[in-house]
Amino acid sequence: MTMIKFLGGGFLKLLHAFLMLLVHLSLVLGFISGARVGDANNIRCLEGERQALLEFKKVLVDDYGKLSSWRSEDEHKNCCNWEGVHCDNQTGHVLELEVHYLRGMISPSILELPYLTSLDLRGHDFNQSHIPEFICSLSNLTFLDLSLANLSGSFPDQLGNLSHLQQLHLNRNDLKVNENLEWLSHLSSLEYLDLSDTNLRAANDWLEVVSHLPNLKSLFLSTCDLPPMSFSSLPSFNYSKSFTSLESLSLSSNQLNGSILKFLGGICSLRQLYLGNTTLKGQLVDLLNNLSGCAKDSLEGLSLPSNQISGLWPNNFGILFPLLKEINLRNNSISGTLPKTIGNLYNLNYLAVTSNCLRGVISEAFFSNLSKLKYLDLSKNSLTLEFSSQWVPTFQLNFIILDSIKLGPRFPNWIQTQTKIIMLDISDAQISDTIPAEWFTDLPPTLAYLNLSCNQIYGWLPNMLTKFENEGLAIDLSANQIRGRLPLFPTKVMMLNLSKNRFSGTISSLCKISSGFLSYLDLSENRLSGQLPNCFMHWRKLVILNLASNNFSGEVPSSFALLTQLETLSLSNNSFYGDLPLPMKNCSSLSFVDLGNNRFFGQVPAWIGESLPLLNILILHSNNLNGSIPLHMCWLKDLHILDLSLNDISGTIPQCLNNFTAMTQIGNSSSDIFHRYYFKFVDTMYTNMTFVYEKEFVDNARLMLKRREYKYDKILGLLKIIDLSSNKLMGKLPDEISSLLQLVGLNVSRNKLVGEIPQTIGQMKQLQSLDLSRNQFSGKIPSSMSELNFLSDIDLSYNNLSGKIPTSTQLQSFKASDFTTRKKT
Ligand SMILES: *[C@@H]1O[C@H](CO)[C@@H](O)[C@H](O)[C@H]1NC(C)=O
Ligand SMILES: *[C@@H]1O[C@H](CO)[C@@H](O)[C@H](O)[C@H]1NC(C)=O
Ligand SMILES: *[C@@H]1O[C@H](CO)[C@@H](O)[C@H](O)[C@H]1NC(C)=O
Ligand SMILES: *[C@@H]1O[C@H](CO)[C@@H](O)[C@H](O)[C@H]1NC(C)=O
Ligand SMILES: *[C@@H]1O[C@H](CO)[C@@H](O)[C@H](O)[C@H]1NC(C)=O
Ligand SMILES: *[C@@H]1O[C@H](CO)[C@@H](O)[C@H](O)[C@H]1NC(C)=O
Ligand SMILES: *[C@@H]1O[C@H](CO)[C@@H](O)[C@H](O)[C@H]1NC(C)=O
Ligand SMILES: *[C@@H]1O[C@H](CO)[C@@H](O)[C@H](O)[C@H]1NC(C)=O
Ligand SMILES: *[C@@H]1O[C@H](CO)[C@@H](O)[C@H](O)[C@H]1NC(C)=O
Ligand SMILES: *[C@@H]1O[C@H](CO)[C@@H](O)[C@H](O)[C@H]1NC(C)=O
Ligand SMILES: *[C@@H]1O[C@H](CO)[C@@H](O)[C@H](O)[C@H]1NC(C)=O
Ligand SMILES: *[C@@H]1O[C@H](CO)[C@@H](O)[C@H](O)[C@H]1NC(C)=O
Repeated sequence: MTMIKFLGGGFLKLLHAFLMLLVHLSLVLGFISGARVGDANNIRCLEGERQALLEFKKVLVDDYGKLSSWRSEDEHKNCCNWEGVHCDNQTGHVLELEVHYLRGMISPSILELPYLTSLDLRGHDFNQSHIPEFICSLSNLTFLDLSLANLSGSFPDQLGNLSHLQQLHLNRNDLKVNENLEWLSHLSSLEYLDLSDTNLRAANDWLEVVSHLPNLKSLFLSTCDLPPMSFSSLPSFNYSKSFTSLESLSLSSNQLNGSILKFLGGICSLRQLYLGNTTLKGQLVDLLNNLSGCAKDSLEGLSLPSNQISGLWPNNFGILFPLLKEINLRNNSISGTLPKTIGNLYNLNYLAVTSNCLRGVISEAFFSNLSKLKYLDLSKNSLTLEFSSQWVPTFQLNFIILDSIKLGPRFPNWIQTQTKIIMLDISDAQISDTIPAEWFTDLPPTLAYLNLSCNQIYGWLPNMLTKFENEGLAIDLSANQIRGRLPLFPTKVMMLNLSKNRFSGTISSLCKISSGFLSYLDLSENRLSGQLPNCFMHWRKLVILNLASNNFSGEVPSSFALLTQLETLSLSNNSFYGDLPLPMKNCSSLSFVDLGNNRFFGQVPAWIGESLPLLNILILHSNNLNGSIPLHMCWLKDLHILDLSLNDISGTIPQCLNNFTAMTQIGNSSSDIFHRYYFKFVDTMYTNMTFVYEKEFVDNARLMLKRREYKYDKILGLLKIIDLSSNKLMGKLPDEISSLLQLVGLNVSRNKLVGEIPQTIGQMKQLQSLDLSRNQFSGKIPSSMSELNFLSDIDLSYNNLSGKIPTSTQLQSFKASDFTTRKKT
């Protein structure tokens, strides 16, 4: 069986785009749960051990009810049936304990389970405390998993007492080694050790210690800040005594250099080598030569992604490493074309070379012996795949990732021979053709991710009739030329992006997407029309809804009120009308709202401030809104873009503006606009490999700044703008406005504002654009304005101001024509 899981709640907002991979992986791991259900037989647990377990439960916080079966009533008394408890089927002693994602301390009562051999508390939240020392007295343990457990501090030396340990998982904590790893050298039964994410900078003995663990098969030390060492000058390392059993090694995300390859090449048992993101530099040929000690004859997996490896492939690549099943060299600078000898690696199931400088034409002959290939990723290279239209490959791929290379202009026929596709990404592949209708109506049921975006695919889209096996399906057909009505999509769709096409008609057929998985719907920039159907109750998990730039009309349907997870809502550039949609009041997760350029009327509702506390961006321009700006709006402390321009809003500008903390304080809010969407695939049928794939949605909006309208996306999070222009606002521009120290653009032009410009306006040092024109401001232009060093666009015209505009350095550096300083009328 091929199993695919989409992560529930997979939308995350992250501070920086780069962090995502790490954070992402942690969350993915964080969701792999699955405590074992107790033996459903008649073995009875022993009273003493039962009491110990109840004691253990007592001091834990069980947020997810994982221990709800741990009860003392008669019928639940048998602790061998409790979730996560595994007893010896002869003696009834508790042998294994496996409970995940709890909080709080571990009770020492666990010591009253003397026969415990396996303790798995992965994902527990130890609240940054140290590894509890008493665990080291559980001397019968063969398996200990305290990974992802919010542990900190260093390791107790007594860990060395666990001399029967075969597996030790301590990765994903904040652990640190202060002196050395001496304790580890006592764990001579250890076969599997994962200390990834532990700070080992001080552990100068790490190599010495791990290399002498006689039974060690798997060693994971990624992101350990390993101390710098020159592997080329190690005192004659005796391989017949060291690393004698090592099969899998990961030193990814450490700072290493090429000298390690020669060293590792001497480990004759090595099968899997992971050295991603290790600052390896140099020519691929040299690096591989250095690796080709005896390890080359056993190596099955070679993974060197995200390094600075350049140069050509050695022609004899496939001959050097004859057993390779997995090649991962993505994100390097390798040039040339793929060597033919890769085609000899008939065990190869995984080939990933995305994001290199590969070029040339690959023909079907290259693949003729690769019948076991399951994962093919050649994307983001200057490669051309040229296959005859009759070609039937010998492989059946699960993963086809061929975006940003040349596949077109015809839609590749061979893809239609692949019946087990899980993921197909052929976006930006220069395909200029129609979608093969037969194939599209009968896609492989294994499909979970389909991306044909950014091609020139034209014509109509047939209904997608396949019954898909997976929980969720992501479909991205954006940026093509597909026209006509929306077809029927499968009920299990989770992500649907049809933006930037020529679809027309209503969207009521989408109501068939009713399994409740839909969390991402982007239909923007099409020719869709009519009213929105009232079927949002099927889409309660929606996080992103973008319907911008279509011809929709009518009111927002009442079922909108169920979208409590919605974070991004864009309805801009349509003809929606009605009172500002009241159903939106319940969408309390909203952070981005763009209703600009519609026909909404009525007052700007006060509930926006109360009900949408997470709003970052509120764009309501070009509607028919009236009334005044509600004071409650000032509650939106995260708001950094407020655009109410081109409405009929009257009243005064509230003084409480200084409550917009996001505009007063330095802060990078780019986190609000990146929505990363993660997919985790586990292929249990062929390889048991886990694949994680991500997709990004970046909020975007058209905004006026410096009198030009731009579509902003990635930098939207950095912009801090207030645009109240072209309304009927009266009264003064409140002094408080000058406490918005981070504001980049302020436009209150075309209102009826009176009084003086706040004297303190010079405080707003980040201002780049200031438009106060066409009001009734009077008095002297404040001299503090000369402190506005970044101001490059200013318009004070059509007021009753006197005095000169004090020039700042920035203003002087611009030509006079770049900024309007038209004098008062
Ligand atoms: C008892 O456990 C052993 C190994 O743990 C297993 O081989 C055996 O089949 C089990 N017996 C019963 C009756 O479940
Ligand atoms: C370990 O298990 C054995 C039985 O397998 C038992 O006799 C011994 O007491 C246990 N060790 C400890 C420290 O409890
Ligand atoms: C880890 O513990 C710290 C300290 O109590 C807490 O603030 C933090 O939220 C915890 N982190 C996780 C991921 O549970
Ligand atoms: C976590 O640790 C802090 C002190 O480091 C303590 O104040 C807090 O109560 C602890 N929380 C839990 C849930 O134990
Ligand atoms: C654990 O190891 C320490 C030395 O590190 C030793 O003094 C102690 O007796 C051991 N404890 C047990 C329970 O074996
Ligand atoms: C590798 O790094 C070590 C430690 O930083 C250094 O001593 C050694 O000279 C480096 N070797 C190469 C080939 O750059
Ligand atoms: C390496 O160890 C083996 C086995 O202990 C021994 O026979 C051999 O002489 C050693 N080689 C060196 C160079 O020390
Ligand atoms: C690469 O490794 C460094 C440590 O050397 C780490 O800080 C960084 O997060 C890693 N980057 C990725 C993308 O894993
Ligand atoms: C390969 O190994 C040799 C000898 O250890 C070393 O001088 C050279 O720098 C290594 N090549 C690379 C690319 O690291
Ligand atoms: C590519 O590799 C570089 C290090 O060489 C790393 O900083 C970057 O994050 C990697 N990019 C991706 C997309 O993995
Ligand atoms: C400022 O915002 C907070 C909530 O973020 C609110 O409680 C407070 O009343 C607001 N202050 C004003 C003057 O509106
Ligand atoms: C994948 O892992 C599962 C569970 O560990 C195992 O039952 C299955 O045989 C494995 N499949 C392959 C192809 O290795």
